[in-house]
Amino acid sequence: MPTFSSMMGNQTILPIVQANTPQEGVEIARAMQAANLTAVEVVLRTEQALATITAIKQQLPDLKVGAGTVLDQSMIDAVIKAGADFIVTPASTPALLKALSDCSIPALPGVASASEVLMAREFGFKELKFFPAEQKGGAPFIKSISSVFAGTKFCPTGGIHAGNKADYLNLPNVFAVGGTWMANAEWIKAGEWQKITDACIEANG
Ligand code: 3PG
Repeated sequence: MPTFSSMMGNQTILPIVQANTPQEGVEIARAMQAANLTAVEVVLRTEQALATITAIKQQLPDLKVGAGTVLDQSMIDAVIKAGADFIVTPASTPALLKALSDCSIPALPGVASASEVLMAREFGFKELKFFPAEQKGGAPFIKSISSVFAGTKFCPTGGIHAGNKADYLNLPNVFAVGGTWMANAEWIKAGEWQKITDACIEANG
């Protein structure tokens, strides 16, 4: 199985798709793909999130579609059935880490403390989501643990935007940043897909 970061290739942002309908999700993902992005994350926070993953995979087959906000084994099973290419979790427990290490697609477990980084490493994970990044110490936290957890790399999310993403991406132990800022809810409501494309181009530049 490829590592999470190798699956993302040169992409340094992981944009979140939060759609009310599968077709809306396809339009958001299409706008992200138009910015030359090859991977997006659909969060399981709306009723039709699983159907959205399936619809994006069917209509935009070249795009890698991840499932975010995955919390337990039943959600892992459901997103794999829906066609997800990878999994992102907001937090970690031993049970969830065990399930992720047994699953058939790459996973990015979420951590928010040094102890949780250590726990995730004990299950073999060296690429982790740091969430909620801004609230849990931001880039200075990631910098301060870099010498302790050599070889562990992070994709921080939570409170990241165009104005602070470079603080994270300049760190050698950060391979990407994620978030919702590239697909503003107002743009989605207004069908302003080009604005999403432009924000993704700016973010990934
Ligand atoms: C996530 O699930 O990673 C967060 O919701 C992203 O947080 P943001 O909305 O502050 O970008």
